[in-house]
Amino acid sequence: MKIAIIGTGYVGLTSGVCFASKGHSVKCIDVIEEKVDLINSGKSPIFEEGMDELLTDVLGKGLLKATLDAKNAINEAEVVFLCVGTPSSDDGKINLDYIKSAAKTISENLNNHKVIVVKSTVVPGTTINVVKPILEESGKSFGICMNPEFLKEGSAIKDFLNGDRIVLGVDSKNTEEIMRNVYTNFPQEIFITNPTTAEMIKYASNSLLATKISFANEIGNVCKKLGIDSYDVMDGVGLDKRLSRSFLNSGAGFGGSCFPKDVKALLHKGLEVGEPMTLLKSVLKVNDEQPLRLIELLKKHINPEGKNIGILGLAFKKGTDDIREAPSLIIIDELLKLKANIFAFDPKAMEHIKKLYPNINLMNNAQEVVDNVDVVMIVTDWDDFKNPELYSGKIVIDGRRIKTNAEVYEGICW
Ligand code: UGA
Repeated sequence: MKIAIIGTGYVGLTSGVCFASKGHSVKCIDVIEEKVDLINSGKSPIFEEGMDELLTDVLGKGLLKATLDAKNAINEAEVVFLCVGTPSSDDGKINLDYIKSAAKTISENLNNHKVIVVKSTVVPGTTINVVKPILEESGKSFGICMNPEFLKEGSAIKDFLNGDRIVLGVDSKNTEEIMRNVYTNFPQEIFITNPTTAEMIKYASNSLLATKISFANEIGNVCKKLGIDSYDVMDGVGLDKRLSRSFLNSGAGFGGSCFPKDVKALLHKGLEVGEPMTLLKSVLKVNDEQPLRLIELLKKHINPEGKNIGILGLAFKKGTDDIREAPSLIIIDELLKLKANIFAFDPKAMEHIKKLYPNINLMNNAQEVVDNVDVVMIVTDWDDFKNPELYSGKIVIDGRRIKTNAEVYEGICW
């Protein structure tokens, strides 16, 4: 099938490359020329395991092309995906500016019946009440679908091609049929519903995963006081199939472009309809405070003022260069307030951190950090940091449960 995708971020590019790998003919539309050129040269603008290889493969087969020419790509397509960002406003409310402008672009270029698919994460009601009216301005016929994405950064391709489910919120049987054709070679179970329910499935999923993490952190914080290892606790808890072990790892808290933003957006939507969501509010509160617990542990051993403090791991998790809402940012800010000298390293996120904090010492590897500091704080669980010998003779404050041979070792929840 001929597919156009607006937006080449994590979701847009992964969708494009994966659909092309299944034999569809894909045009990825973006407004940034450098990104378009980079993609067409076989280089992914985002770091993602296996992306460059798959991108090169589908480009070579002529199944994918990035373009600035939205009109042509939309005109040719049978299905158009909206994969633009939906950031938070200052009050947590979802900002739909990119969605509206992408919908307008589609509306202005609709030439024949197509299915328009919202893949961006949008609060319930957006597809029907915001996107659909803009498309209707075209006066042309279209079908509409809300198809939330469940991929994780760091395993985006694997998750897209082989995740647990595909949710299709469709407006008609005809749209359902076209969307089933898009996903014809995918092994996942397909769940059919309406667009508004599909939107809520995405928020409920992310909010429940975030809740599991904050729950694990809250239990973990009590475990720490009682001398219990919260990982052992969750290993025992997770044997109950109703609960499952996944997303129960305590640590420095969740970050990234999704959980914090999506929980805030849902909270805001709840308030709008007169339902303040107390549980989710607490999920965010636990998460906001979690990175600071590492600083409290640090202070147990050393007064950070004027001391050399190491931070290993800056990305919000391993496998990505993404630092959005990363716990490392809260820790850096606090250490700077306390007048510590920071030495930091991350295998992938250095460029992004350099832009935000030009004055901290960014080292070439973990060993260089350790060699320069009195205390090492582990904030992301990159495999590079898993050599226990690295930490010999040091004080280690661990937010990601990496076993070390440190002289003094403090785990955050164990
Ligand atoms: C998350 C969801 O897992 C995806 O299903 C969803 O599609 C995506 O958001 C999205 O909405 O786009 P992602 O943010 O890429 O994916 O990363 P996760 O692997 O879910 O991790 C999120 C954060 O939670 C990380 O900071 C991670 O370190 C933390 N985490 C995760 C924990 O602290 N403990 C855990 O047990 C698991």
